Parts: sequence; structure tokens; C-alpha cells
Amino acid sequence: MARRKFVCGNWKMHKTAAEATALVKELAAGVAEAARAGEVQVAVAPPFTALHAVATALAGTGIELAAQDVHWEAQGAFTGAISAAMLADACCTHGIVGHSERRQLFGETDEGVRRKAAALLGAKIRPIVCVGETLAEREADRTLEVVGRQVRQGLQGLSPEQLRQLTVAYEPVWAIGTGRTATAAQAQEVHAALRKILRELGGPVADEVRIQYGGSVKPENAAELMSQPDVDGALVGGASLKAKDFLAIVKGALR
Ligand code: PGA
Repeated sequence: MARRKFVCGNWKMHKTAAEATALVKELAAGVAEAARAGEVQVAVAPPFTALHAVATALAGTGIELAAQDVHWEAQGAFTGAISAAMLADACCTHGIVGHSERRQLFGETDEGVRRKAAALLGAKIRPIVCVGETLAEREADRTLEVVGRQVRQGLQGLSPEQLRQLTVAYEPVWAIGTGRTATAAQAQEVHAALRKILRELGGPVADEVRIQYGGSVKPENAAELMSQPDVDGALVGGASLKAKDFLAIVKGALR
């Protein structure tokens, strides 16, 4: 079945509101052509402090707004945390959860990912659930076991209708920010395994769920990666900070 490709830029801890607005202006000028007027779904995930400014700047561009994280509780004494309702209020339609940097540097667990994804869905925000193995795990031939556990535990208890709302992002930790990309064949192998698990969890909706690849996606490798049958888009870090590169990656998603 044909799934619309979905490319999301993850700006991580980069850009003030003014810098973010300037980047959106550059993206806006080229996105209609790059995405062939909506054939590719495009989103950007700025830091929380730039969400409002970016939401305003994105109006009418067709580019959607994503958050980089969320807390699962609805409200309360959670200093520094942001709720799903707050993200909806800031016009986010997507939210990244379980990014490997959150897992490695901030102690995020599969159980936390599950609660965060559920909180987003409750606020009508579509989760982008990240999974991925470390280099040591790949070398020990444990890739499918690790990403399988992450996806099963992260998506546990969701109904097929809820699964349909979300995106899974396969991001091998050894490829993030390292310049080292998984080959198209390595990505396809894991994506096909993930889709099989999605089928166990949700039945036929598995064919509708987009699985993005992330990890050193650049203009030079984007088209080949996204030409694989189960690679339905990209989650782009470093290369999403330059309009020219990000738009070239979006173009790479066209069939
Ligand atoms: P990268 O990051 O493209 O800079 O490797 C990807 C990500 O962390 O989402």
C-alpha cells in the first residue's frame, strides 16, 4: 500500500525564536516545490521556546509543527516539564518521544515512552516514537531484539486506531550525528521487522503506519534510503538546520 512519505526536522537544542523564524521563512519559500504541493508530509520540531514563533511563521506553508518531548502528567508540580495539552495549545500536531538522546542523557525508559505516547494521543497529537540500537548492541547481533522490545513496550496497550495515528522512527544510535548512516539494506531489514511487530500489535493498520529512518540523513543519501519499501520518510537532525539541505531531503522523498 502507498504510504505518504513523512519528513520531520528535529532541531534539537538549536535556534532562538528569531533564528527559528528566519529558517522557517527559507523553508516556506521552497517547500511547495520540494514536497510537490503536499505529496510529502513535512514537519519541524523546534525547541519549546520557539514553538509559538514557529507556529505563527508556519501558517499557510503546509509545514506542520512537532514538539521534541512531552511529560505524561496532565498538570502539577513537575518543574521544567511541558504537558501534552500545553503542546496542543502551542499548535503542535506531532510530538517526538523516546529519542535516543532523551533515553541516554535524560534516563527515558520504555515505560516513560509508553506514557508519553498515550498522553500525546489523549491531546490529539501524533507521536513519533523513536527506537534504535547502540553500536555495541548491533555488534552483538541484538538489533532486532532491542528495537523489538522498545516498540512493543512503548506501544503496549494502544488500540489499532491509536496505532494508526503514530509514526515510528528507527534511529540507530551509532548513526545519529556521526556522519555514519545505515545502508539502505540495513534500514530496510529493521523497518520490515518493525512492521511485522506492528502487525502483531495492531493487525492491518500496520500497513498504514509510517516508519521513518533517522541518523545522518543528508541530501546525498535521502533518496536511496526512502526508496526502500518500508522506509516511509526521515527524521532529520543536523541537516534540518539548513533550509537548502532539508528541502533537498524532502525532494528525495518523492517517488
Ligand atoms: P542526525 O540526527 O540527522 O543529526 O544524525 C537525527 C536525529 O537525532 O533525529
